[in-house]
Amino acid sequence: MGVTSQRPIEEGVQRDFRRAMSYGDYLDLDTLLSAQHPLAQPPQHDELLFIVQHQTSELWFKLVLHELRSARELLRADELAAALKRLARVKHIQSTLTEQWSVLATLTPSEYAQFRDFLATSSGFQSYQYRAVEFLLGNKNADMVRVFDHDPAAQQMLESLLHEPSLYDEFIALLARRGLPVPAELVDRDWSKPHQPNDVLAQVIRSIYEDPEHHWDVYETCEELVDLEDNFQFWRFRHLKTVERIIGSARGTGGSSGVPFLRKALELTFFPELYAVRGQIAESGRSS
Ligand code: HEM
Repeated sequence: MGVTSQRPIEEGVQRDFRRAMSYGDYLDLDTLLSAQHPLAQPPQHDELLFIVQHQTSELWFKLVLHELRSARELLRADELAAALKRLARVKHIQSTLTEQWSVLATLTPSEYAQFRDFLATSSGFQSYQYRAVEFLLGNKNADMVRVFDHDPAAQQMLESLLHEPSLYDEFIALLARRGLPVPAELVDRDWSKPHQPNDVLAQVIRSIYEDPEHHWDVYETCEELVDLEDNFQFWRFRHLKTVERIIGSARGTGGSSGVPFLRKALELTFFPELYAVRGQIAESGRSS
């Protein structure tokens, strides 16, 4: 009846890992847990938080990329239901990434100031995985590739993604294969350029929203993409507000104006027609 202070290890539980694979072996924990190298001298208690927050974000970016690449392939193969399953996972990862800012928000300006100079010119701006996620979603920018002159492997990865269709490009191509009147120039173009807002495509999207029953799976996909973009903006916003409470109006370690630079990113959109159509439907509802 009483609770004992120790839980005995059951008979069948594996204890001898001299010839069996352990948890640490499978996860290569020695590598993972020896990759934190605080630089501040004298050592500063809060630098480990800063490193772990970045490293965990990068691990989640890795999984987001894996899922988005797969979702893009599935769209190309007209396997919409499977693609939506991938996007559902991405949305949960985004929520985790956004919620995670609250941990870093416990870092005060004075605590950050104790190790900030040791970061020198390093900045999240140089995160090639973040840039890859942006490229995959359609925010193509050849200038960003040049930031990686020092890292040929990362540069090659970004260069390839720059020239490939984005997730949205593949969705547009799928709509065309469904027989919807998508302009030909959106289905075959220079993929290294970002998608430009297109009125005819907005009309196509509007026809989906006006008759969801006949277009249910693509209608659902439109909403999933809007969720994805919303979530991306929530992450950007929490980054901005966390940065603001830690460095205020100071410049970034990457050399930008800091908060004003980050604020400009909130004006970017990956899927312009999915937002344009909302205004159109709202306006038409008002006039009818
Ligand atoms: C004390 C914490 C942080 C501060 C003060 C900070 C500050 C900044 C600033 C000022 C920039 C603009 C570029 C620059 O001048 O450096 C930036 C960009 C960026 N940061 Fe952070 N950051 C922090 C934490 C993080 C974390 C934990 C991540 C997670 C990976 C991150 C990811 C990024 C990314 C991806 C960009 C590029 C954004 C874009 O190009 O729109 N940052 N950060």
